[in-house]
Amino acid sequence: MSRSAHPAGPRHADVYTEGHYSAPADDLNSLDEKVWARTVGRNADGVVTVGGIEVTRLAEEFGTPAYFLDEADFRARCRAWADAFGRDADVFYAGKAFLSRAVVKWLKEEGLNLDVCSGGELTTALAAGMPAARIAFHGNNKTTDEIERAVDAGVGRIVLDSFQEIVRVAHIAQSRGVRQPVQIRVTVGVEAHTHEFIATAHEDQKFGIALADGMAAEAVRRALKLDGLELIGIHSHIGSQIFDMAGFEVSARRVVQLLAEVRDEHGVELPEIDLGGGLGIAYTSEDDPREPQEIAKALGEIVTRECESAGLATPRLSVEPGRAIVGPTAFTLYEVGTIKPLEALRTYVSVDGGMSDNIRTALYDAEYSVALVSRTSTAEPMLVRVVGKHCESGDIIVKDAFLPADLAPGDLLAVPATGAYCRAMASNYNHALRPPVVAVREGEARVIVRRETEEDLLRLDVG
Ligand code: LLP
Repeated sequence: MSRSAHPAGPRHADVYTEGHYSAPADDLNSLDEKVWARTVGRNADGVVTVGGIEVTRLAEEFGTPAYFLDEADFRARCRAWADAFGRDADVFYAGKAFLSRAVVKWLKEEGLNLDVCSGGELTTALAAGMPAARIAFHGNNKTTDEIERAVDAGVGRIVLDSFQEIVRVAHIAQSRGVRQPVQIRVTVGVEAHTHEFIATAHEDQKFGIALADGMAAEAVRRALKLDGLELIGIHSHIGSQIFDMAGFEVSARRVVQLLAEVRDEHGVELPEIDLGGGLGIAYTSEDDPREPQEIAKALGEIVTRECESAGLATPRLSVEPGRAIVGPTAFTLYEVGTIKPLEALRTYVSVDGGMSDNIRTALYDAEYSVALVSRTSTAEPMLVRVVGKHCESGDIIVKDAFLPADLAPGDLLAVPATGAYCRAMASNYNHALRPPVVAVREGEARVIVRRETEEDLLRLDVG
């Protein structure tokens, strides 16, 4: 089909009347630096580059769909978090956002610690040489095997999530003659302003032990009595993709209150608090994330102030950003396949991936942006919905966006800010092959997680 054969979809003047679409960027060729990895730009030919390499070359070499991760950006973000929190605090990267051996190596080199939440993540961390002392082990239902492996490896902390687990971890540690450093995860009763499925500190959900009815104080009582445990602190994680610091403020205040109660009851000052992760990133130009410096300053001040007023020495603070580090560093590259203009509605643009490489739009109603990256265009904007190739009408990657009306099969589109929870939550739905992750740095591109093959699928299918 020739380019001119695509009638333009509804023009933006039509869709404004519906009231909820963002205006198309004045220039569809411009790349908002808020949502793109740091080394992304357009070269003189109009082709988008990352780490100095054209996406057209990357597509040729690695195929599509594929995630391209800007290693320099990842490392810079690690350093920004480490510098912002300084020597009196610890930054744990939340591996659930995206974990691979290369990532572990970068974290290690940049001085970050690592939060893992499964045996698989622990194995990856250890295989890539992360010192166990720099690993925190999380999860609301850790198996006995996972706890044994974490204790045997000597992880720096296990974050206890239930009364059963307090006993189980104590028992396993004691059977090995060690005292396992632990924190207790509490739910502070904060309603984080985010999607219901990624809010984690209101009381009606599965994580942590509630502060409200004295349960957390009871958990501390029990943990302090058990020889196998060294209770080092309290943990609170209130949710994800949060922009408003007010929730962290309430969380910190309530955690410090618990520390004061523990001091009063047991004469013990617990030396650490962890305020979790959850800091938001820009998925579209409308999002305004905070810089690590600002976050560190705000959290540090809150904790210091609350501790002073409770007469406590300021505990060592830790945080667990996942998305805020890896999210902005990658984009997914797709090739345009079929294009269907629906009269007076929108144009459906199908790409060669979908909900198997980005489930977040279907699962959380997440918003993404998208750009034509293999060339520039001066065509009029058309309203599009970027969809995948799965047998599901909810298989949407970008709900509403504007792309040039001369978009054609074979063009390359990129969806920015897909570094977190995209490859990590990828599936084989419809026997899709999970895309590779390619790290790009200073003119060099290297596969860090290879593309799945049909042989991989058949190898798992042993029947
Ligand atoms: N710490 C704990 C204990 C967590 O449970 C999480 C995320 C984090 C840290 C890191 O949160 P981050 O800074 O990445 O927001 N799949 C969802 C997010 C689920 C997050 C679960 N826990 C999404 O795609 O938005």
